[in-house]
Amino acid sequence: MKLSALNASPIDYRKLVTEHGSPLLVLDGDAIRKQYSSLQKALPGVALHYALKPLPHDAVIAVLKELDGYFDLATNGEVDLVRDVGVDPARCIHSHPIKRDSDIRYALEYGCKTFVVDNICELEKFVAYKDVAKLLLRVSFRNPDTKIDLSKKFGCRQEEALTLLKQAKELGVNIIGLSFHVGSQAVNPMRHSNAVAACNQIIAEAAAQGITLSTLDIGGGFPVSYDGKAFDIVEYCAPIREELAKLPAHIRVLAEPGRYISAPAVTSVSSVMGIAQRGDQTWYYLDDGVYGSYSGQIYDHMVYPLSFPYASGKPQLSVLSGPTCDSIDVIREDIMLPPLKVGEIVIGHVMGAYTWASATEFNFFRKANFVVVNGPRQMKAVNAA
Ligand SMILES: Cc1ncc(COP(=O)(O)O)c(C=O)c1O
Repeated sequence: MKLSALNASPIDYRKLVTEHGSPLLVLDGDAIRKQYSSLQKALPGVALHYALKPLPHDAVIAVLKELDGYFDLATNGEVDLVRDVGVDPARCIHSHPIKRDSDIRYALEYGCKTFVVDNICELEKFVAYKDVAKLLLRVSFRNPDTKIDLSKKFGCRQEEALTLLKQAKELGVNIIGLSFHVGSQAVNPMRHSNAVAACNQIIAEAAAQGITLSTLDIGGGFPVSYDGKAFDIVEYCAPIREELAKLPAHIRVLAEPGRYISAPAVTSVSSVMGIAQRGDQTWYYLDDGVYGSYSGQIYDHMVYPLSFPYASGKPQLSVLSGPTCDSIDVIREDIMLPPLKVGEIVIGHVMGAYTWASATEFNFFRKANFVVVNGPRQMKAVNAA
């Protein structure tokens, strides 16, 4: 990513750190709006259910609620979050394929009635709720193009789908459609479009057996750029749109985007705590690291673009380390950086997905506080969470 472009940001990070402390995560509601509307443009007619897991933050939910968005939940905590923001439960689905009975009841009590299953054990749990619950059958489509291949862990085999649909019919459980997730940061759109084609085939086979399906949920996985290269989501989705157009006209299509909506909306602000010269490398110890906001480098396998808006001078071989006492807590090694001072600010970009959500407080280094800018209209213009 071009550092000059990143540094052109109008946000005064020093002022934010003075007011709110460090480390911080700056969440920009306008970026959420922009991502949501560009994905809407790329997938016209598809109901976009924001998957809360990459960034379960109430300001994101509130911004999307103002845009008449939909939501994808997976846990009781996520149910609590949307309920607290006042989201209509009819605009939510619960897409965790494996749930306890108590989780099903928790979501139903809120009013969320659409769930996902992918096996007979899960299907049988819904016999007790067959008069209220509507189900989507998740089908597995493996994706070797991504490190986050969610179909390894979830989804029935394509050959099993028809049998499960018939079993549901025998149990009197209402399966209304199919769902899939082709893996997160799915850089190849053919993974989505091939999965849509395969589901279209299953829908036709089911219809031939007298089982009418009305819904297809194409999951999440829509990627963002982590290297500063321009990325056009409308162009990316072209093969997906082409395949969606072949579905029977009565099929309602929904999606569960997470990363695409939230990743570009958060900027990490951390500060240098200490500096040590070790051999030919200058080590900078920041107050945030891979146990904190940079946890996505471990769990999500992403590397975030960095910038140093206030640094100048001759670049030298450096290491950027997190604050904890663990040696794994290193953000970047062998990089050329201008000299930094104690207290100097380091910026991490595109850090709104699977970062803070998976951060820990190991060693009692607290998680970064949020500062929301351009937030929902009913909240203050800038507020710290
Ligand atoms: C069921 C489900 N839906 C949606 C998502 C969001 O995916 P992404 O962030 O890749 O869009 C995930 C991610 O794990 C998921 O498991």
